[in-house]
Amino acid sequence: MSANFVALAYLVASVLFILTLKGLSSPVTSRRGNLFGMIGMAIAVLTTLSLTHNVVYILIAIAIGGTIGAVVANRIQMTAMPELVAAMHSLVGLAAVLVAMSAFQNPVAYGIALPGELLHATNRIELFIGTFVGAITFTGSIIAFGKLSGRISGKPLRFTGQHWLNLGLGIAMVGFGVAFFLEPSWTPFLIMTAIALLLGVLLIVPIGGADMPVVVSMLNSYSGWAAAGIGFTLNNNMLIIAGSLVGSSGAILSYIMCKAMNRAFLNVILGGFGGGEGEVAGSGDAVQRNYRSGSADDAGFLMGNADSVIIVPGYGLAVARAQHAINEMSKLLTEKGVKVRYAIHPVAGRMPGHMNVLLAEAEVPYDQVVEMDEINNEFADTDVVLVIGANDVVNPAAKTDKSSPIYGMPILEAHKARTVIVVKRSMATGYAGLDNDLFYLDKTMMVFGDAKKVVEDVIKSLQH
Ligand code: TAP
Repeated sequence: MSANFVALAYLVASVLFILTLKGLSSPVTSRRGNLFGMIGMAIAVLTTLSLTHNVVYILIAIAIGGTIGAVVANRIQMTAMPELVAAMHSLVGLAAVLVAMSAFQNPVAYGIALPGELLHATNRIELFIGTFVGAITFTGSIIAFGKLSGRISGKPLRFTGQHWLNLGLGIAMVGFGVAFFLEPSWTPFLIMTAIALLLGVLLIVPIGGADMPVVVSMLNSYSGWAAAGIGFTLNNNMLIIAGSLVGSSGAILSYIMCKAMNRAFLNVILGGFGGGEGEVAGSGDAVQRNYRSGSADDAGFLMGNADSVIIVPGYGLAVARAQHAINEMSKLLTEKGVKVRYAIHPVAGRMPGHMNVLLAEAEVPYDQVVEMDEINNEFADTDVVLVIGANDVVNPAAKTDKSSPIYGMPILEAHKARTVIVVKRSMATGYAGLDNDLFYLDKTMMVFGDAKKVVEDVIKSLQH
């Protein structure tokens, strides 16, 4: 294939990737965005294959990897998507490290040095950067995967001198990188890689509960930069462009999420951020407190007689797959003249936009779906708030308790409404492992049960 044709094909694929990002910025255009991404990726892969000699080996690897990927993606529940994404990021990081190692072992095969020649200075810098970003992404993503899937405790692991240790390791890593630059040999390269692997672990272990979404998007960004690093090593423009798009869009997403979570961007990049150092309470060690509970019929009566209802959906709505039922319930309320809206917290659920996707799937009208900043002023004038399968995103401790790990995180101010109904299965804590004062207010009524079942019962009571 001629060089011009390859450049043109890569350009088309790059434009498609940019259109993908644009499409994914709204639920209305996201399917089209995904389609652009698939076509762009197909063009990029086929063009790269046309440049390659040992296609058979690559096809075998694609068949094995593709089969594993298809089986895993098919089996995964929507609610486990963030941990799958974290696991995938770890593979991108590992690939960057392995490519850098093999390029260093045999630079001639990669066309970055002539036989008998030392690696060029620029290639040494590329290998150094690609390796350390890849190594940090690899182990950091494994820890994030462990925390998100519950295989590792979500509790932040903090110790005195943690930041100094990270700083010391960071300086040592750069020092060995410089040594590798001056004298390219395996010893500084491997020590630098080992330090970066350790740093990946140390940067993520202090991050707890509610701050994990920011970490996932940050690792997403790192994996993009690692891929761009491989692109430089392989002299592949497509990989540099695609990696940079992932890297920069991940960085922008991290920035937006930091703003939404009221966290400092620099702290996130350096690891170990969050509110106070407070103990994270397990569901078992909560102090016995009084709360009021009621039935689905009571909830139906309160909402049916209200002028305005705000629904706060959370992770439990996704687990129960109650989105269609809740839409049916809203329709009944609207028919009765009740003003119904949905309040969306930026990190409700387990992935960015999780609630928007669920509600769009159930065809909830977009004008009923209101983002946090816009709706927070309205809770005080609202008759009933229905908190359904949400917990951390309505926890007032984020505003009032300086010692809480979620202190400073903005919340949906459900506690300001005249009446609060909370639907969940028990008094158990949410993702951050914290008790929630909202559940113990005099104006709050707990309705225990699976979200879908409760909403179906509310629908029956509204129909009668
Ligand atoms: P959570 O704080 O996780 O609370 C969800 C609640 O849903 C739980 O307390 C649980 O209580 C209830 N629940 C679970 N299954 C249910 C079911 N079948 N029916 C009814 N209720 C059910 O959720 P949230 O308020 O949406 O907050 C999200 C949390 O996840 C935040 O801490 C956020 O930082 C974190 N996080 C978010 C993301 C993104 S990007 N969105 C990614 C990773 C982590 P019971 O067990 O008593 O039912």
